[in-house]
Amino acid sequence: MSVLKGFTVWFTGLSGSGKSTITLELDKQLRARGIPNVEIMDGDEVREHLSKGLTFSKEDRDINIRRIAFVCHLLTRNGIPNIAAAISPYRSTREYARDMIGNFIEVHVAAPLEVCEGRDVKGLYEKARQGEIENFTGVSDPYEAPLNPEVVCHTHEETVEQSAGKIVAFLERKGYLEPVL
Ligand code: ADX
Repeated sequence: MSVLKGFTVWFTGLSGSGKSTITLELDKQLRARGIPNVEIMDGDEVREHLSKGLTFSKEDRDINIRRIAFVCHLLTRNGIPNIAAAISPYRSTREYARDMIGNFIEVHVAAPLEVCEGRDVKGLYEKARQGEIENFTGVSDPYEAPLNPEVVCHTHEETVEQSAGKIVAFLERKGYLEPVL
């Protein structure tokens, strides 16, 4: 099995919603189906390299997302399957990414704020509540949920395998992947 055309799976969701976890599982499921060349643009990693030095102001987040979108655009047009996993909190900037990339699958990782905050994997919600971090998405900065995402993953109600499986099924249904016979 192979990829029939390039695409970008674009995750959006709060910190701690499960974007990185589903990314790894999706990569694994795609590998298992004979697709070894998935590029991953994970928010934390991008901010270590491509977007090093950017803050979490709206302006800098938009720059960050536009950079990720540009790289995904280049890869997608050359037939590479990509996964982007950044909070990408602003609807209009995600629409910019959609328009630029074309083969764009928006996946809302939709765990409720209480769940993400309860997990607090990195201890950042606690810091945000204490006022030690400013402009923290969901606490002191907006998160604009997608109105019409291609896929929604309710990570508090489904397993990571189910979440990734929904995306693979969507890719197959839309002709991005060859169906398994
Ligand atoms: S985005 O808004 O520009 O898309 P991105 O995904 O790159 O965000 O980075 C989010 C990660 O940065 C979070 O998962 C968290 O670990 C960390 N972080 C640090 N400060 C903030 C903040 N003010 N708001 C959100 N995330 C923050």
